[in-house]
Amino acid sequence: MTKLSTKHLLGIKELTADDIHLILHTAENFKEVINRPIKKVPSLRDITIANLFFENSTRTKLSFELAEKRLSADVVNFSSGSSSVKKGETLIDTVNNILAMKVDMVVMRHPNPGAAVFLSKHIDAKIINAGDGAHEHPTQALLDAFSIKEKLGTIKGKKIAIIGDILHSRVALSNIFCLQKLGAEVMVCGPTTLMPKYIRSLGVKVEHNLRKALEWCDVANMLRIQLERQDIKYFPSLREYTMLFGLNKEILDSLSKKIVVMHPGPINRGVEITSDVADSAQSIILEQVENGVAVRMAVLFLLAGRA
Ligand code: CP
Repeated sequence: MTKLSTKHLLGIKELTADDIHLILHTAENFKEVINRPIKKVPSLRDITIANLFFENSTRTKLSFELAEKRLSADVVNFSSGSSSVKKGETLIDTVNNILAMKVDMVVMRHPNPGAAVFLSKHIDAKIINAGDGAHEHPTQALLDAFSIKEKLGTIKGKKIAIIGDILHSRVALSNIFCLQKLGAEVMVCGPTTLMPKYIRSLGVKVEHNLRKALEWCDVANMLRIQLERQDIKYFPSLREYTMLFGLNKEILDSLSKKIVVMHPGPINRGVEITSDVADSAQSIILEQVENGVAVRMAVLFLLAGRA
């Protein structure tokens, strides 16, 4: 198989297991490319890509831009904070004006769930969802899967615990879909108030005790408390949250086996994870960031139909 079954990357839910395997295999080749002295290949020459960010980002934005440049695409960047969105221009008008400049692909981050799906129904360009509200963040899940496979050799049969603010996390949902399609067992762990009501219907284990989750898993993916998406109080205080669900070195070292620690970033050091864990030999947080470029190169290359 050399082609994806979809025109866009809107979410992991729409991908087949074969699609995911193809992306991960293609990313392995691109990881080799970006570690060469000359990191650039001509694969997307003459393709123009617009990165539209309607919400803040460090990793995803830079990683997509670097991936596009490594593939020799022409790149334009848009941040809503410094655009005519501030003067009342709509999403469709904004995108149609950018597409009038002959753009082939759109990478979009947006605070509203479903924004990428909505756009795909109104424009012709290929769309990659770079995170839509609390819905999906497909390239994060793909780079997480790539990083687990790289570290453990396989994903099938591995036990992955996703710990923290599951309710507001697009990373959690995309990871659940991705890891299950690849044959992993997935557990979510966090306070009851930060679990979506439908969570058990996704076929995941649910745990509210951090130590039990950590003793069960091979990999712990620690998530940030998304205070910017919380309009009410979901727990008494950050201090109490950290006491019950924060991963520190004492807990990590007391486990019966050495687990792998992940975090999608940005980290709130001292809240969901302490610095000595984030920076420890068991953490693959910076490997995740490095792999993000290779995985995004694979997604762009495959969607552009250059395989
Ligand atoms: N992991 C992630 O999406 O980080 P940014 O918000 O910085 O892009």
